Amino acid sequence: MKRKKVTEPVRIAVFVSGGGTNLQALIDAQRDGILRTGKIELVLSSSRDAYALTRANDNGIPTVIVARKECADQGAFEDGIRAALAAHNIELIVLAGFMSILSEDFVREWPRRIINVHPSLIPSFCGKGFYGLRVHEAALAKGVKVTGATVHFVNEIPDGGEIILQKSVAIHKNDTPESLQQQVMRQAEWLLLPRAAEQVSLEILSARAVSTNTTVFNGT
Ligand code: GAR
Repeated sequence: MKRKKVTEPVRIAVFVSGGGTNLQALIDAQRDGILRTGKIELVLSSSRDAYALTRANDNGIPTVIVARKECADQGAFEDGIRAALAAHNIELIVLAGFMSILSEDFVREWPRRIINVHPSLIPSFCGKGFYGLRVHEAALAKGVKVTGATVHFVNEIPDGGEIILQKSVAIHKNDTPESLQQQVMRQAEWLLLPRAAEQVSLEILSARAVSTNTTVFNGT
Protein backbone atom coordinates (compact mmCIF):
# COMPACT_ATOMS: atom_id res chain seq x y z
CA MET A 1 0.00 0.00 0.00
CA LYS A 2 1.36 3.43 -0.87
CA ARG A 3 2.16 5.74 2.03
CA LYS A 4 -0.67 8.17 2.82
CA LYS A 5 -0.19 11.90 3.32
CA VAL A 6 -1.15 12.83 6.88
CA THR A 7 -4.13 14.94 5.77
CA GLU A 8 -5.57 12.63 3.09
CA PRO A 9 -9.03 11.31 4.09
CA VAL A 10 -9.06 7.84 5.59
CA ARG A 11 -10.24 5.42 2.91
CA ILE A 12 -13.38 3.60 4.09
CA ALA A 13 -15.09 0.48 2.73
CA VAL A 14 -18.67 -0.09 3.82
CA PHE A 15 -19.75 -3.75 3.86
CA VAL A 16 -23.47 -4.38 3.23
CA SER A 17 -25.90 -7.20 2.54
CA GLY A 18 -29.37 -5.64 2.39
CA GLY A 19 -31.31 -2.39 2.33
CA GLY A 20 -28.39 -0.18 3.24
CA THR A 21 -30.11 2.45 5.38
CA ASN A 22 -26.96 2.63 7.52
CA LEU A 23 -24.90 3.09 4.36
CA GLN A 24 -27.29 5.93 3.45
CA ALA A 25 -26.73 7.51 6.88
CA LEU A 26 -22.96 7.41 6.23
CA ILE A 27 -23.38 8.94 2.76
CA ASP A 28 -25.60 11.71 4.19
CA ALA A 29 -23.13 12.31 7.02
CA GLN A 30 -20.33 12.69 4.50
CA ARG A 31 -22.42 15.22 2.55
CA ASP A 32 -23.20 17.13 5.76
CA GLY A 33 -19.61 17.18 7.03
CA ILE A 34 -20.28 14.93 10.02
CA LEU A 35 -18.06 12.29 8.47
CA ARG A 36 -15.17 14.35 7.15
CA THR A 37 -11.93 12.70 8.22
CA GLY A 38 -12.88 9.52 6.39
CA LYS A 39 -14.29 9.05 2.88
CA ILE A 40 -16.36 6.14 1.55
CA GLU A 41 -14.27 4.75 -1.31
CA LEU A 42 -15.95 1.36 -1.74
CA VAL A 43 -19.20 -0.45 -1.00
CA LEU A 44 -18.75 -4.21 -0.79
CA SER A 45 -21.86 -6.36 -0.87
CA SER A 46 -22.18 -10.03 0.02
CA SER A 47 -25.38 -10.19 -2.04
CA ARG A 48 -26.06 -9.39 -5.69
CA ASP A 49 -29.48 -7.90 -5.03
CA ALA A 50 -28.78 -5.71 -2.02
CA TYR A 51 -30.58 -2.37 -2.43
CA ALA A 52 -27.50 -0.84 -0.79
CA LEU A 53 -25.76 -1.27 -4.17
CA THR A 54 -28.28 1.09 -5.78
CA ARG A 55 -27.63 3.65 -3.05
CA ALA A 56 -23.89 3.42 -3.73
CA ASN A 57 -24.36 3.71 -7.50
CA ASP A 58 -26.65 6.71 -7.08
CA ASN A 59 -23.87 8.41 -5.16
CA GLY A 60 -21.01 7.49 -7.50
CA ILE A 61 -19.33 5.14 -5.03
CA PRO A 62 -17.52 2.12 -6.54
CA THR A 63 -19.14 -1.20 -5.68
CA VAL A 64 -17.99 -4.78 -5.61
CA ILE A 65 -20.02 -7.94 -5.04
CA VAL A 66 -18.37 -10.84 -3.25
CA ALA A 67 -21.18 -13.34 -2.74
CA ARG A 68 -20.40 -15.97 -0.13
CA LYS A 69 -22.63 -18.58 -1.76
CA GLU A 70 -20.84 -18.17 -5.09
CA CYS A 71 -17.43 -18.81 -3.49
CA ALA A 72 -16.01 -22.33 -3.09
CA ASP A 73 -15.33 -21.81 0.63
CA GLN A 74 -14.71 -19.19 3.32
CA GLY A 75 -11.08 -18.85 2.20
CA ALA A 76 -12.07 -18.00 -1.37
CA PHE A 77 -14.72 -15.57 -0.08
CA GLU A 78 -12.22 -13.71 2.09
CA ASP A 79 -9.54 -13.71 -0.62
CA GLY A 80 -12.11 -11.96 -2.83
CA ILE A 81 -12.68 -9.40 -0.08
CA ARG A 82 -8.93 -8.92 0.49
CA ALA A 83 -8.39 -8.30 -3.24
CA ALA A 84 -11.12 -5.63 -3.33
CA LEU A 85 -9.75 -3.92 -0.21
CA ALA A 86 -6.22 -3.88 -1.61
CA ALA A 87 -7.37 -2.58 -5.01
CA HIS A 88 -9.00 0.40 -3.28
CA ASN A 89 -6.28 0.98 -0.64
CA ILE A 90 -8.85 0.65 2.13
CA GLU A 91 -7.85 1.58 5.69
CA LEU A 92 -11.13 1.20 7.62
CA ILE A 93 -13.97 -1.31 7.22
CA VAL A 94 -17.47 -0.36 8.38
CA LEU A 95 -19.90 -3.26 8.69
CA ALA A 96 -23.35 -1.79 8.04
CA GLY A 97 -25.81 -4.66 8.01
CA PHE A 98 -23.22 -7.12 6.68
CA MET A 99 -24.70 -10.55 7.30
CA SER A 100 -21.79 -12.81 6.30
CA ILE A 101 -19.33 -14.19 8.84
CA LEU A 102 -15.72 -13.02 8.77
CA SER A 103 -13.18 -15.54 10.07
CA GLU A 104 -10.93 -14.97 13.08
CA ASP A 105 -7.92 -14.89 10.74
CA PHE A 106 -9.47 -12.15 8.64
CA VAL A 107 -10.50 -10.09 11.63
CA ARG A 108 -7.01 -10.34 13.16
CA GLU A 109 -5.59 -8.73 10.02
CA TRP A 110 -7.56 -5.55 10.82
CA PRO A 111 -7.08 -4.71 14.53
CA ARG A 112 -9.17 -1.62 15.49
CA ARG A 113 -9.85 -1.18 11.78
CA ILE A 114 -13.25 -2.90 11.51
CA ILE A 115 -16.33 -1.44 13.19
CA ASN A 116 -19.86 -2.82 13.29
CA VAL A 117 -23.30 -1.47 14.14
CA HIS A 118 -25.49 -3.82 16.18
CA PRO A 119 -29.17 -3.14 16.96
CA SER A 120 -29.13 -3.69 20.74
CA LEU A 121 -27.33 -2.49 23.83
CA ILE A 122 -24.43 -4.98 23.93
CA PRO A 123 -24.01 -7.24 25.93
CA SER A 124 -27.78 -7.84 25.63
CA PHE A 125 -29.20 -9.67 22.60
CA CYS A 126 -25.92 -10.11 20.73
CA GLY A 127 -23.55 -12.82 19.57
CA LYS A 128 -24.24 -15.85 17.40
CA GLY A 129 -27.75 -15.91 15.90
CA PHE A 130 -28.63 -12.35 16.89
CA TYR A 131 -28.96 -10.25 13.75
CA GLY A 132 -31.56 -8.06 12.04
CA LEU A 133 -35.17 -8.49 13.19
CA ARG A 134 -34.24 -11.44 15.46
CA VAL A 135 -32.57 -9.01 17.85
CA HIS A 136 -35.77 -7.01 18.25
CA GLU A 137 -37.92 -10.15 18.54
CA ALA A 138 -35.68 -11.29 21.41
CA ALA A 139 -35.84 -7.92 23.16
CA LEU A 140 -39.66 -7.91 22.96
CA ALA A 141 -39.88 -11.54 24.10
CA LYS A 142 -37.77 -10.72 27.14
CA GLY A 143 -39.94 -7.73 27.95
CA VAL A 144 -37.10 -5.25 28.37
CA LYS A 145 -38.27 -1.65 28.54
CA VAL A 146 -35.16 -0.11 26.99
CA THR A 147 -33.09 -1.26 24.02
CA GLY A 148 -30.81 0.63 21.65
CA ALA A 149 -27.81 0.28 19.37
CA THR A 150 -24.07 -0.21 19.76
CA VAL A 151 -21.13 0.52 17.50
CA HIS A 152 -18.10 -1.55 18.42
CA PHE A 153 -14.74 -2.67 17.13
CA VAL A 154 -14.84 -6.14 15.61
CA ASN A 155 -12.58 -8.79 17.09
CA GLU A 156 -12.60 -12.60 17.11
CA ILE A 157 -15.60 -12.77 19.46
CA PRO A 158 -18.98 -12.16 17.74
CA ASP A 159 -20.18 -8.70 18.92
CA GLY A 160 -17.43 -8.89 21.57
CA GLY A 161 -15.06 -6.08 20.59
CA GLU A 162 -14.54 -2.82 22.47
CA ILE A 163 -17.62 -0.62 22.52
CA ILE A 164 -17.22 2.75 20.77
CA LEU A 165 -20.68 4.32 21.11
CA GLN A 166 -24.11 3.30 22.46
CA LYS A 167 -27.52 4.92 22.57
CA SER A 168 -30.67 3.75 24.28
CA VAL A 169 -34.19 3.67 22.80
CA ALA A 170 -37.40 3.26 24.80
CA ILE A 171 -39.70 0.31 24.01
CA HIS A 172 -43.42 1.06 23.88
CA LYS A 173 -46.30 -1.26 24.77
CA ASN A 174 -47.52 -1.80 21.22
CA ASP A 175 -44.12 -2.15 19.56
CA THR A 176 -43.63 -4.95 17.04
CA PRO A 177 -40.21 -6.21 15.92
CA GLU A 178 -40.63 -4.11 12.78
CA SER A 179 -41.63 -0.89 14.56
CA LEU A 180 -38.84 -1.36 17.08
CA GLN A 181 -36.30 -1.91 14.32
CA GLN A 182 -37.36 1.38 12.74
CA GLN A 183 -37.13 3.28 16.02
CA VAL A 184 -33.70 1.83 16.86
CA MET A 185 -32.44 2.77 13.41
CA ARG A 186 -33.87 6.29 13.48
CA GLN A 187 -33.02 7.15 17.06
CA ALA A 188 -29.71 5.36 17.39
CA GLU A 189 -28.01 3.51 14.51
CA TRP A 190 -28.12 6.26 11.88
CA LEU A 191 -26.68 8.76 14.37
CA LEU A 192 -24.06 6.55 15.99
CA LEU A 193 -22.50 4.88 12.97
CA PRO A 194 -21.30 8.06 11.19
CA ARG A 195 -20.03 9.52 14.48
CA ALA A 196 -18.11 6.34 15.25
CA ALA A 197 -16.70 6.21 11.71
CA GLU A 198 -15.47 9.78 12.15
CA GLN A 199 -14.00 8.99 15.57
CA VAL A 200 -12.07 5.97 14.30
CA SER A 201 -10.96 7.85 11.17
CA LEU A 202 -9.43 10.49 13.43
CA GLU A 203 -7.67 7.73 15.34
CA ILE A 204 -6.23 6.40 12.05
CA LEU A 205 -5.16 9.88 10.99
CA SER A 206 -3.40 10.35 14.31
CA ALA A 207 -1.62 7.03 13.88
CA ARG A 208 -0.42 8.23 10.47
CA ALA A 209 0.81 11.46 12.06
CA VAL A 210 2.74 9.56 14.72
CA SER A 211 4.41 7.46 12.06
CA THR A 212 5.46 10.66 10.21
CA ASN A 213 5.99 12.79 13.35
CA THR A 214 3.46 15.40 12.19
CA THR A 215 0.83 17.22 14.26
CA VAL A 216 -2.77 16.96 13.00
CA PHE A 217 -5.19 19.86 13.53
CA ASN A 218 -8.72 18.60 12.98
CA GLY A 219 -10.48 21.93 13.40
CA THR A 220 -12.47 21.03 16.52
C1 GAR B 1 -29.40 -2.89 10.95
O1 GAR B 1 -30.42 -2.83 11.91
C2 GAR B 1 -28.12 -3.36 11.59
O2 GAR B 1 -27.92 -2.90 12.88
C3 GAR B 1 -28.36 -4.85 11.60
O3 GAR B 1 -28.97 -5.12 10.35
C4 GAR B 1 -29.70 -3.97 9.93
C5 GAR B 1 -29.24 -3.59 8.54
O4 GAR B 1 -30.04 -2.59 8.00
N1 GAR B 1 -27.13 -5.55 11.77
C6 GAR B 1 -27.02 -6.66 12.51
O5 GAR B 1 -27.97 -7.21 13.05
C7 GAR B 1 -25.61 -7.23 12.64
N2 GAR B 1 -25.52 -8.08 13.76
P1 GAR B 1 -29.55 -1.69 6.76
O6 GAR B 1 -29.12 -2.65 5.64
O7 GAR B 1 -30.78 -0.93 6.37
O8 GAR B 1 -28.44 -0.80 7.21
